[in-house]
Amino acid sequence: MDIFDNNTLSQSFMNLELLKIVLFISNSVLFSYVGIAFGTLVLSLTMKGKSTVAKDPFYFEFSRYLVSSGIFKKTAGIIFGVAPLLASMFVYTILLQTSEFSVSADFYFTMWLLIAAFVLLYVYRISLNTKEVLSVYSGKENNESLKNKLSNLSAFSALALFLLSMYILVGENMYIMTVNSRPANNSLLNILFDNNTLIEFSFFFSFAFMFAALFSLVDLFNGGSKFAARDAERGGTAKRFLIKTAMIFVLFLPALYFIKVISVPKEALSSSFFGTVIFIMFLLFMISVYLYYMYKEEKIEFRGAAFYAGLLLISFIALQNEFAFNTANALNEKALLEKYNADKIEMEEAIGIFSIPKLTGEDIFKAKCSACHTFETKLVGPPYNETVPKYKEDIAGLKDFIAHPRKIREDFPIMPDQGLKPEEVDSIAAYLLSHFK
Ligand code: HEC
Repeated sequence: MDIFDNNTLSQSFMNLELLKIVLFISNSVLFSYVGIAFGTLVLSLTMKGKSTVAKDPFYFEFSRYLVSSGIFKKTAGIIFGVAPLLASMFVYTILLQTSEFSVSADFYFTMWLLIAAFVLLYVYRISLNTKEVLSVYSGKENNESLKNKLSNLSAFSALALFLLSMYILVGENMYIMTVNSRPANNSLLNILFDNNTLIEFSFFFSFAFMFAALFSLVDLFNGGSKFAARDAERGGTAKRFLIKTAMIFVLFLPALYFIKVISVPKEALSSSFFGTVIFIMFLLFMISVYLYYMYKEEKIEFRGAAFYAGLLLISFIALQNEFAFNTANALNEKALLEKYNADKIEMEEAIGIFSIPKLTGEDIFKAKCSACHTFETKLVGPPYNETVPKYKEDIAGLKDFIAHPRKIREDFPIMPDQGLKPEEVDSIAAYLLSHFK
């Protein structure tokens, strides 16, 4: 992606801060949505498998419901998956432009993987509504039917692509935390065979299942869901399955998170980083408590709270990774701001604006006042040692006179306006007040 890398503009401090907010939002959206899409796909496949074994069309219907709750909109994959990915790629490219690192090629590659994954996921979703596939699961046709094979093929290919693209993405997020301590050979292979990638991915993987199960639980029992309402007993089976899935995966998260935190490179640690650790631990604890309660009591009243806690959790993870990256990337950021200043001067000179060096009070006195004033003796105007003392406690009054001179003494002519800029008035007034006797 050389074209992209070579055309990034340098950014002011404010712009960089703004871009970091964009990065936080896009990463939060990207990981939470891809988590849901990927998680519901696996849950759906599990149920489809169960339907074949148990010869019970309920599981098939549940499978179909799960995948359509994950892609609730045709464009969801583009809006919540591909668009945030592009936004993150854009921000990283800018933030890393002064380093040897470049993530844009890998991100670009991952973007296509993700697009393909979403297309296949969508094909899988449609396939579950076709007559042939439906009839397999009501026992009318055999499992080997072509359409059913295609349906499975698209699901498993989507699964593989999701796994690969998320593996690369989380790896990339970890890898750039070492931006200053490693040689810049961040080839894809290095990232794929990195322990930190594996750790971060295991965390994301467990999170995705837990989050997808919570998401479907909220969706399934949102009051209006036909699927849950039609059959109380079957609704109960679905509920137990989802709660159990979320429960199992939330058990892995604390340990995985702990390993993840201790494997963050030292140069990326900061107090903000540890601040987020506390929040994340707390959220994990809350989700576990909610889930344990729901599991034990077979009640679902905390499903919403648990889901939102999950959403907060993944946002905090995004924030924490960003803090770590910012700390590690501080030197590059400094270089970036210096580059911005240099570019700015160059640009101003190119269009004919020259920055005028700032004048000191003394410079202004010599250039604009000394023709008519000295401190000791009368020239055209009265000496400062006589006129300035009365402004000792009134710098505002002095500034006002210098900026807008008016007639004061009968025996002197009126002082002409010197046409000073406000900051020049400030410096000359300070100069007079600190030099009179
Ligand atoms: C062309 C001559 C001239 C120049 C140049 C000039 N002044 Fe004056 N200044 C005067 C005169 C004449 C007076 C007396 C005006 C009066 O009393 O009405 C005066 C009065 C003053 C006073 C006394 C005000 C008071 O309240 O008594 C101050 C302070 C002063 N000038 C500051 C400045 C400063 C600062 C500059 C340079 C930025 C400056 N002047 C440049 C002619 C000049």
